[in-house]
Amino acid sequence: MFQRKHLPSPYFSKITEAFLSCIMKYIFKWGIIGLGKIAEKFAEDLSHTENGVLHAVASRSIDKAKDFATKHKAQHALGSYPEILNISDLDAVYIATPHNLHAENTLMCLEAGIPVLCEKPLAINLPQAQEMVALARSKNIFLMDAIWTRFLPHFVEVKKIVDSGVLGPITSLKADFGFQADPQKHKRLFNKDLGGGALLDIGIYPIFAAYTLLGKPREIYAKAAFGDTGVDMKVDMDFVYDITCSAHLTCTLLEDTASDLIIEGEWGTLEVGHRFHGPNNYDLRIRDKPRKTSNFKYNCNGYMYEANEVARCIGLGQTESEYMTLEFSLELMHLLDQVRKKVGIFYLQYDV
Ligand SMILES: NC(=O)c1ccc[n+]([C@@H]2O[C@H](COP(=O)([O-])OP(=O)(O)OC[C@H]3O[C@@H](n4cnc5c(N)ncnc54)[C@H](OP(=O)(O)O)[C@@H]3O)[C@@H](O)[C@H]2O)c1
Repeated sequence: MFQRKHLPSPYFSKITEAFLSCIMKYIFKWGIIGLGKIAEKFAEDLSHTENGVLHAVASRSIDKAKDFATKHKAQHALGSYPEILNISDLDAVYIATPHNLHAENTLMCLEAGIPVLCEKPLAINLPQAQEMVALARSKNIFLMDAIWTRFLPHFVEVKKIVDSGVLGPITSLKADFGFQADPQKHKRLFNKDLGGGALLDIGIYPIFAAYTLLGKPREIYAKAAFGDTGVDMKVDMDFVYDITCSAHLTCTLLEDTASDLIIEGEWGTLEVGHRFHGPNNYDLRIRDKPRKTSNFKYNCNGYMYEANEVARCIGLGQTESEYMTLEFSLELMHLLDQVRKKVGIFYLQYDV
């Protein structure tokens, strides 16, 4: 993969940008660590990216790695995670392991100089995330939190609309994510040792939406319900911004919910329907103006957009994305930590 930092800077111009965009059409070699459900979806989407190919896959089981590599046409199948460090021509690794392993797996790759796209949440807690970010910065290696929603076309527009001010002063935001989880099918979510529970897995999306669109809250109120295995099954949160603006956020593994996003301003309402965090459309109603509904057609699972962003940034020699900065990820982690502290969600082996 050709990187911008290899270009002599005085010659960097519009012509070189055009040249670079041609170069970027060449292949971008991905590795994946942890071959579960999301790894499957991400691998499927690589065929839709501008220049991405799956090059190496690492699993705890060599048979699983071989099957996955055959299915997704990856060149290297590896029977342990550290073996990925032996693949010298990787452009980036996607970490798709359970939450408790994100920090360990990411640090291993960054230490070896390999750029990382790490599944959400970036880590179990802020101290882990800070260690990851510090290492990426000290070694000048790309790192990004895989909050794919930020790169989905409908959400990119939602952010632009809110930022434009057409809704008027924002008075409320409501975001939720809920589904009835099956203890057999969704084992990871019920396992506290793996960082299971509603908040870190799906509650991160409503919090992400509120933080992206409204910024840091002044106050946080939260309550949670816990299940038999000790994980949080439901968390209700209120983020207060000022006397006229607040966000109501919920996540639950107990029932299927609307899972939508509604932003109300003094002059209008912006709504994203069921599964607001995934490929979607929005509905915009501004007082005295015709209603506007977007019409995005998605021909992939939605992970193509974040993968393209990683390739774009690395192609330009960047060590982070300006749309998903490391500061943003640290603050998001801090918000999760604050909610956890308020409701008593602890992962004792990681939290100090
Ligand atoms: N962006 C999204 O839309 C989205 C959606 C779902 C999940 N996620 C995130 O992606 C990550 C993985 O989620 P998933 O749903 O793909 O989970 P999953 O199906 O359980 O897969 C996780 C993989 O991690 C590896 N692993 C390593 N140690 C493990 C252990 N002790 N127990 C179980 N698996 C272990 C396994 O891969 P090997 O057997 O190959 O080693 C396993 O297949 C999580 O961080 C989650 O938050 C993101």
